[in-house]
Amino acid sequence: MNEEQRKYGANAKTEPNLEKDYSKYFEHVYQPPNLKEAKTRGKSEVEYHDDFKIDERHRGMGKGRKFYIRTYGCQMNEHDTEVMAGIFQALGFTPTNTVDDADVILLNTCAIRENAENKVFSEIGNLKHLKQERPDCIIGVCGCMSQEESVVNKILKSYQNVDMIFGTHNIHRLPDILEEAYMSKAMVVEVWSKEGDVIENLPKVRNGRIKAWVNIMYGCDKFCTYCIVPFTRGKERSRMPAEIIAEVRDLARQGYQEICLLGQNVNAYGKDIDGLEYGLGDLLKDINKIDIPRVRFTTSHPWDFDDRLINAIAEDNNIVPHVHLPVQSGNNNVLKIMGRKYTRESYLELVRKIKTAIPDVALTTDIIVGYPNETEAQFLETIDLYHEVGFEHAYTYVYSPREGTPAAKMKDNVPEKEKKQRLQRLNKVVGEYAAKSLKPYEGQEVFVLCEGTSKRDDEVLAGYTEKNKLVNFKASQDVIGKIVKVKITEAKQYSLNGEFIEIVSKEKVAH
Ligand code: SAH
Ligand code: SF4
Ligand code: F3S
Repeated sequence: MNEEQRKYGANAKTEPNLEKDYSKYFEHVYQPPNLKEAKTRGKSEVEYHDDFKIDERHRGMGKGRKFYIRTYGCQMNEHDTEVMAGIFQALGFTPTNTVDDADVILLNTCAIRENAENKVFSEIGNLKHLKQERPDCIIGVCGCMSQEESVVNKILKSYQNVDMIFGTHNIHRLPDILEEAYMSKAMVVEVWSKEGDVIENLPKVRNGRIKAWVNIMYGCDKFCTYCIVPFTRGKERSRMPAEIIAEVRDLARQGYQEICLLGQNVNAYGKDIDGLEYGLGDLLKDINKIDIPRVRFTTSHPWDFDDRLINAIAEDNNIVPHVHLPVQSGNNNVLKIMGRKYTRESYLELVRKIKTAIPDVALTTDIIVGYPNETEAQFLETIDLYHEVGFEHAYTYVYSPREGTPAAKMKDNVPEKEKKQRLQRLNKVVGEYAAKSLKPYEGQEVFVLCEGTSKRDDEVLAGYTEKNKLVNFKASQDVIGKIVKVKITEAKQYSLNGEFIEIVSKEKVAH
């Protein structure tokens, strides 16, 4: 056995230690969600670092070993996976697409709704046999679920096949956590309840060379009463404008065709940095000067959607005319108890302003049905608002209680069956509007960023228009990664079929 094997060798960890007292982990690092405390969290404690490096003693840890990361949840998690993949590769690990030959398996989890969590628990269960067959294999749980005490406890108690749990603020600690997992017999738990600092120079291995995620801020301070994210992701921390602009410039140089600026509440960008008079509108204007064909951003809370932002999107530029503007409900009482801080009327006023400034804008939204005690009449107001705005698409959900949030403590008189029926009724309307928004494209020419072959048919290529409409067409595989002109021949309910015309070097805005 060489030095490396001795250090990280499989033999270090063969029998699970069921007797271990885990309470020490919580004493030092973990606090359960506490709304009162979280709401008073300060503005000033965030530190900015660019001194991440792989310690000499960790180099080579991954030699001859493979890693596999399964990602659940939103774009934030997808991007965190790219960072963790970067760290793994810096440690010498190589990627694999299957758990079967992976030496480290990470589940990057989502806590937003109960069914998201259930999926993860069943996957951890599925991995039990693998751990029996290959005890050397390391199984890790990270992402938003790891930030919940109840989840950590459940894993400690019932899923001894897990070797390490770490939180969303501990990603840069992955080399140390892995080292400990290789050396220790007990489950390694490292979850910080204090939000992390902003670390600029973490390595990343991006998934693809066509579209890229760019974080502009972390965390959320909105505390919508149903939502777990302010607890799992911590307080709002914006990256410095110069860092973001440098990252986008670099992506443009590398030939990326589209970037998506990411944050839970991107309209609040910059507000947490004392003395910075610079918001998302300003950032978009600066990014507009960079030669990258398409810029998206997500997600916008209707609060803080100011005129500067509207003007930045309205200008003839590389910012796509698509605004995702989650409304959640069309009833004022429900919006109030959700803590959304706007009314039906002010939302509609904002929509009117956006539509006036950007006449061809595509609006999409998120909606929750079956909020505690939502009445039929209140639900119908949501449907009515949908008709009034005419959203082109929506992500719709049945309300799911999240432990530690205020809504989870509310008594609820709406039966589950009724909630599901409301979802179906809403989805019918969503489907009608999706189809209606696609019909006028028949016979039109559109610009499509070709992303690859269609999921259903290798012979067919697929990509998206600026307004995020999925287009399928046939052409040579050489056009993958390029913006192409396509003539639409058929509009389906959720996608378009078309005929390839030509590659365009620069998309000229005819949206
Ligand atoms: N920051 C984004 C939302 C992120 S979560 C925003 O505020 O727009 C994505 C969506 O999940 C939310 O818009 C909401 O519709 C839904 N969601 C969040 N918590 C939920 C819960 N407890 N039950 C059901 N849906 C929820
Ligand atoms: Fe959750 Fe509201 Fe923050 Fe969105 S804005 S992440 S829904 S708390
Ligand atoms: Fe899920 Fe966390 Fe995103 S809870 S939706 S992965 S921020």
